Amino acid sequence: MFDLIIKNATLPDGRSGLDIAVKDGVIAAVEAGMTTEAAEVIDAGGYLVSPPFVDPHFHMDATLSLGNPRMNTSGTLLEGIALWGELKPLQSVEEIVARALRYCDLAVSMGIGAIRSHVDTCDDELKGVEALLEVREQVKDYLDLQLVAFPQDGVLRDSTAMANTIKALDMGVDVVGGIPHFERTMADGAESVRQLCQIAADRGLMVDMHCDESDDPHSRHIETLAYETQRLGLQGRVAGSHLTSMHSMDNYYVSKLIPLMVEAGVHAIPNPLINIMLQGRHDSYPKRRGQTRVRELRDAGITVGFGSDCVMDPWYSLGKADMLDVAFMGLHVGQLSSREDMAWCFDAVTANSAAIMGLQGYGLEKGCAANMVLLQAKDKIEAVRLRANRLAVIRKGRVISRTAPVASVLDLPGRPKAVNPADYAPKA
Ligand code: FE2
Repeated sequence: MFDLIIKNATLPDGRSGLDIAVKDGVIAAVEAGMTTEAAEVIDAGGYLVSPPFVDPHFHMDATLSLGNPRMNTSGTLLEGIALWGELKPLQSVEEIVARALRYCDLAVSMGIGAIRSHVDTCDDELKGVEALLEVREQVKDYLDLQLVAFPQDGVLRDSTAMANTIKALDMGVDVVGGIPHFERTMADGAESVRQLCQIAADRGLMVDMHCDESDDPHSRHIETLAYETQRLGLQGRVAGSHLTSMHSMDNYYVSKLIPLMVEAGVHAIPNPLINIMLQGRHDSYPKRRGQTRVRELRDAGITVGFGSDCVMDPWYSLGKADMLDVAFMGLHVGQLSSREDMAWCFDAVTANSAAIMGLQGYGLEKGCAANMVLLQAKDKIEAVRLRANRLAVIRKGRVISRTAPVASVLDLPGRPKAVNPADYAPKA
């Protein structure tokens, strides 16, 4: 007797007609034609069942603060940072907790099962850190929240940032962050990478730095991050977020840089919605896209996961916790239009990002945690095309969110009555 069986599922690897059985919060079997009884049975109807979406880059201390205390009028990253600096002293721990929990509700309903959130440590009261540590505890039964100590104003440029970042790690923040391109000079940026990686090595932690988030073709912090990663033996534990300057770099230099990143086992986290919105703001025409070289990084063997970065905050006014929106934008900006490339974009918001975060028990094999999302789409490409409806979100074998199927009721003589966008998939 199982707790739950999902009947007639299609899996992300393309296998179909399978039943997924759950016992005690763990996937107990994945096979066709299961006859064992279960307390609850869900008919997937041939739709895609995936492990949950994973957002490897977010700012939960700022989310849902849009318009407070004012709007970002230039639309630039730098005005966003200045605006965030105005908001920080005005907000309380309770307000940050309330906004974050509200966002987590939305994220769960959209099938997100894990989020890596940066939390600003450039605040002598560490209100954001206190708030998100509390949120991490409150949501742990339904959402894996991993926190990155993020010195937003520069760990060297801000006089108390280093002490506060170390204090945040002492308080239980999981990952070491940084922002080398915001330090005063390129040399200070490199020194910040060196010091922060040393802290991670000493403490046995992962690293995730905002790295080269600019259109400056001469920004070189990902080179330093790769160097420090191999020097300190941090291979597989380090991610470079954004990496937008790689878009503008000289091609010859990139032909040397990417192998250095491969050697160091550094992961890459582009944030397509935010990168396409914020980068190229100083260009006239042609305007650079400012998304890093996704295809080239992936083809070299680097793990690439797409992050959402911002939802309704000083940097980005839109967003609805939809990782398929993120994949959709990454696909377009990266011109990832072959069948294989489009399917890969789904992986970039699921399995790849789970690997970057080091999530345990992620997947649909027997023995994995029974965390799943049932999508109203027949395969990964259709899921991206439709930004598919999340019919059911399952956590440890329990349905924690349901959404009614999408279909329009048509009133045209001689035409079908119901139109479901998921029925428009091309024949395999
Ligand atoms: Fe970010």
